[in-house]
Amino acid sequence: MEQIQITDDSPPLEGETVLEVKDLSVTRSGKLVLKDINLEIKTGEFVGLVGPNGSGKSTLMLSILGILKAQKGSVRIYGSPPMSRNQIGKIGWVPQAAANLKKEIRITVEELVKLGTINAKNMFFRSRKEQYSAVENAIRMVGMEVFRNTDVSKLSGGQRQRAVIARALASNADFILLDEPLVGIDRDARNSLLKLLDNLCHDEGKTILMVSHDLAAIRQTAHRMIFLEQNISFDGSSEDFPELNELANLRGIQHVHEHADYKEDEG
Ligand SMILES: Nc1ncnc2c1ncn2[C@@H]1O[C@H](COP(=O)(O)OP(=O)(O)OP(=O)(O)O)[C@@H](O)[C@H]1O
Ligand SMILES: [Mg+2]
Repeated sequence: MEQIQITDDSPPLEGETVLEVKDLSVTRSGKLVLKDINLEIKTGEFVGLVGPNGSGKSTLMLSILGILKAQKGSVRIYGSPPMSRNQIGKIGWVPQAAANLKKEIRITVEELVKLGTINAKNMFFRSRKEQYSAVENAIRMVGMEVFRNTDVSKLSGGQRQRAVIARALASNADFILLDEPLVGIDRDARNSLLKLLDNLCHDEGKTILMVSHDLAAIRQTAHRMIFLEQNISFDGSSEDFPELNELANLRGIQHVHEHADYKEDEG
């Protein structure tokens, strides 16, 4: 009889539910920020989360991560509530303004990425060899090999963003959440970063949820778009995402102009 080989490090199954948000409402300082959010994301999806300033994008990310508690409803990641043991090391978080690392921190790209390999589960048990290859892989995936020994403070905004993404990848994260990774980087860096994220979905089976104000850019790359303004008023394929002039209808208001609430970072 033939033996079927089952490997542990096989890529995540296509079509598996990564995230399930049900009837989620979140209040901050007494104000209802998210109302009845329903959302399901499957393995390999690249989802762009857009919406005006203060519409609750970061709040949704923090609720998914389990940092903010739901007023009502539930969040499930790989079938369990946020911060469950089965998620340790599987979730990568690239926070808003991640590229604005403090200038005083003297740390090389390799050292920063290595920090990503440390988590509650593997802190004491992960072998040096395993740690080394996780760091190598992550640096390679973001194309930062030549900057391995460069001080992070010497990098451009786009390079720094890559280094922060590599830190998330070094944990072997399958589900990567990014909040405004395109802010403060030039167009070329932006395009190559989007290409990188797209490759991570296609080639590495990663699942990505990314917040961005750059509607044009995100729409080009993400497979699916979500427009959030307290609740979700659009969730569908990027091709079906309304043009800017139609967005007004979506928002129930008259004027929406491009980059209306886009703040250029000081980089
Ligand atoms: N720590 C906080 N305490 C109370 N209210 C907050 C807090 N942080 C954010 N809010 C409020 O929650 C709402 C949503 O904020 P959130 O940061 O999620 O928006 P956002 O869509 O990420 O905006 P931006 O595009 O500016 O990043 C805003 O009205 C904001 O004022
Ligand atoms: Mg935000």
